[in-house]
Amino acid sequence: MERVLPFRFEEKEGVFWLLDQRKLPLEEVWVPVRTAREMAEAIRAMVVRGAPAIGVSAGFGMVLAHLRGENPEEADQLLRRSRPTAVNLFHALDRMRAHWGDLEGSLEEAWALWREVEATEKAISLHGAKVLRGQVLTHCNTGPLATGGYGTALGAIVEAHRQGRVAHVWVDETRPYLQGARLTAYELKKAGVPATLITDNMAGFLMAQGRVDAVIVGVDRMALNGDFANKIGTYALAVLAHHHGVPFYAALPLASVDPKFSTGEGIPIEERPPEEVLELRGVRLAPPGFPAYHPAFDVTPYRFLTGIITEKGVLYPPFEEALRDALGLT
Ligand code: MRU
Repeated sequence: MERVLPFRFEEKEGVFWLLDQRKLPLEEVWVPVRTAREMAEAIRAMVVRGAPAIGVSAGFGMVLAHLRGENPEEADQLLRRSRPTAVNLFHALDRMRAHWGDLEGSLEEAWALWREVEATEKAISLHGAKVLRGQVLTHCNTGPLATGGYGTALGAIVEAHRQGRVAHVWVDETRPYLQGARLTAYELKKAGVPATLITDNMAGFLMAQGRVDAVIVGVDRMALNGDFANKIGTYALAVLAHHHGVPFYAALPLASVDPKFSTGEGIPIEERPPEEVLELRGVRLAPPGFPAYHPAFDVTPYRFLTGIITEKGVLYPPFEEALRDALGLT
């Protein structure tokens, strides 16, 4: 399978190159990032996006800070303020903190982070593939572009297809940013997996017809009880799946669990510019001056989940006990 990675690090020049995800799938443009400040801006602007990919990028952002003589504390703060919801960003920066002032150490840690993402996602894909079959529906983008590895939910889908378990994928376009239409469709096409694009509001119709055997999504931050924040629209999909008795899975590395939250209440939800709802590639959709609201994530209660797919296996209810166990918490 062809795997498109969202970034590469040119160690000799000390430049982190990002594949500009705002331009995909129409253009493949690589953007050089030379400082932590530039990295924070690239994450904010969604040149790179997806929870694990943001984490790895922030890790290398700290390497760039050391290479370019930026103050590590300021660099850390700039990166922390880039996007609020995916906990992977904060995990990565917490890990990099131990290497402030040490270029060698920070470089080793950033590479280690990236390698861990790859290893955990290989495991997630294999565990996830076991529970998928037939026609699967997914939301947003959770493949290599969102992670720098094999992908979480999409990794499991591609693996299940390779094993002959999944025949076809319904791809939610994922309004308003269209990660599904632009990025998941691009990745599934490259992976050679049969798939069809739908608008988000078609999922219920398909489920009612019995044309969805499972739903699988990624996670930006999961609380200890299994409630989780993911791309806006996930909650509605979970309610629909529950109503129609369709199995609903979340796939994530355990690094996406934030034990500081016992429930999903209070997980910071990013609000993005209303223009992303009001316009499509610069073309206005609504009457001039009309307001729009754009929460970029929502929170899905654990009770709608059939299982949580992690690198340690598929967890089943009671989720809090299973998550504590997997995380080694007492
Ligand atoms: O706003 P984005 O594109 O960064 O949101 C991405 C998602 O919501 C993904 O589902 C999530 O990060 C999981 S990625 C493996």
